[in-house]
Amino acid sequence: MNPDAPNTRPKSYHVKSFGCQMNAYDGTRMAELLEADGLTAAASAEEADLVVLNTCHIREKAAEKVYSDIGRLTKNARKNDRAKPMIAVAGCVAQAEGAEIGVRAPAVDIVVGPQAYHNLPDLVAKAASGIRALDTDMPAASKFDALPKRRKQGPAAFLTVQEGCDKFCTYCVVPYTRGAEISRPWGQIVDEAKALVDAGAREITLLGQNVNAWSDDSGRGLHDLIEALATIPALARIRYTTSHPNDMADGLIAAHRDIPKLMPFLHLPVQAGSDRILKAMNRSHDAAGYLKLIERVRVARPDIAISGDFIVGFPGETDADFEATLDIVRAVDHAQAFSFKYSPRPGTPAATMGDQVAIEVMDERLQRLQALLNEQQSRFNAATVGKRCEVLIERDGKLPGQRIGKSPWLQSVIVENGPAIGELVTVDIVSAGPNSLVGTIVAARAAA
Ligand code: 5AD
Ligand code: SF4
Repeated sequence: MNPDAPNTRPKSYHVKSFGCQMNAYDGTRMAELLEADGLTAAASAEEADLVVLNTCHIREKAAEKVYSDIGRLTKNARKNDRAKPMIAVAGCVAQAEGAEIGVRAPAVDIVVGPQAYHNLPDLVAKAASGIRALDTDMPAASKFDALPKRRKQGPAAFLTVQEGCDKFCTYCVVPYTRGAEISRPWGQIVDEAKALVDAGAREITLLGQNVNAWSDDSGRGLHDLIEALATIPALARIRYTTSHPNDMADGLIAAHRDIPKLMPFLHLPVQAGSDRILKAMNRSHDAAGYLKLIERVRVARPDIAISGDFIVGFPGETDADFEATLDIVRAVDHAQAFSFKYSPRPGTPAATMGDQVAIEVMDERLQRLQALLNEQQSRFNAATVGKRCEVLIERDGKLPGQRIGKSPWLQSVIVENGPAIGELVTVDIVSAGPNSLVGTIVAARAAA
């Protein structure tokens, strides 16, 4: 029994997702599941009877957030003279730490991994009877079969098509928290895409830890799937993320040339520029091979925006290795990119490698790298001024009548004169800042 457990069934819920877009997708699916079970969305975590913390384990900082949130939730409940909400820890910290979470944070009622969250209603019922509930199984049967139908949502939707990773980069927890690579079946994906479009989506981002490794038994690849989804009339845009350089098939590169609905944006992390470090990371590609690949993608789609991820301070990284990272960043010229300090993750091979880099060295390298990436991003944004492009309106801006949407190259674009959310408008880009563009509307294509 858990002495801290609430002993009533929760009526309202709040899901808070950390980390990657796949976690955001899982968070949405958990919300749908709880609603199908009769719960309603609370206005905030403070007002919810059940709070689901959908966690990320990728770096130490991300993983620690859950414990400060649990502390805050219990403290706030006490301060407001309210019963502690039922707390569920989901996501990758749940998978990695399992029952340990309850030892460190007794206020937690449920621990549920990313492959087991379809069981959430049963776990909630168990927790309501005072028993701490744990499910970190990775069942062979797909959780997707057990999830309810997609409900109404915004114009830009996520759709997980592939999960897990077999690459075993030496710094990364994903193969342990998300398990082996699996591809969802073709028919299931097409049905979900149609349901999302029926529920209002005009853009779908296909998600996977290695999304470009998606394949099925008949030998079809991600490009075949994209081609099929492009035939859904009311679906205007398709994106996909995250990709591994070694799975960038010829067909997928060609799709960037041949399928107009596939947006000109590619997130293709290289992580580092030194071949020695890439080898120690077990990336199984070198810097030259990566640059050749980018060149081929640019031949297929000259205006493509390239994004990436970088790690500074991997064990053994010397000044010369770091300079090689700056070199590859200069050679690629990014539209945007994410960069991180290396964070040793328990259970990964790199965590026990010698020659860990000092934190001050990492700080300095990260600053230099981010300065270069910011400069590239600003330059990329400035280069769109004067262009005419379509913008998918996604949300309200700060000022009355203002709306914010996305360009084909995934930049945020602010427009005036309030087109409806979900409209695809033709816009002239008139100015650019480091993080967004301003556009004036030329014409609107009605929402389907
Ligand atoms: N430390 C720092 N960054 C990491 N990433 C993955 N694992 C680690 C780690 N241990 C970064 C990689 C990856 C992105 C999602 O997070 O750059 O592409
Ligand atoms: Fe974080 Fe990776 Fe889990 Fe996404 S899959 S939530 S990035 S640990």
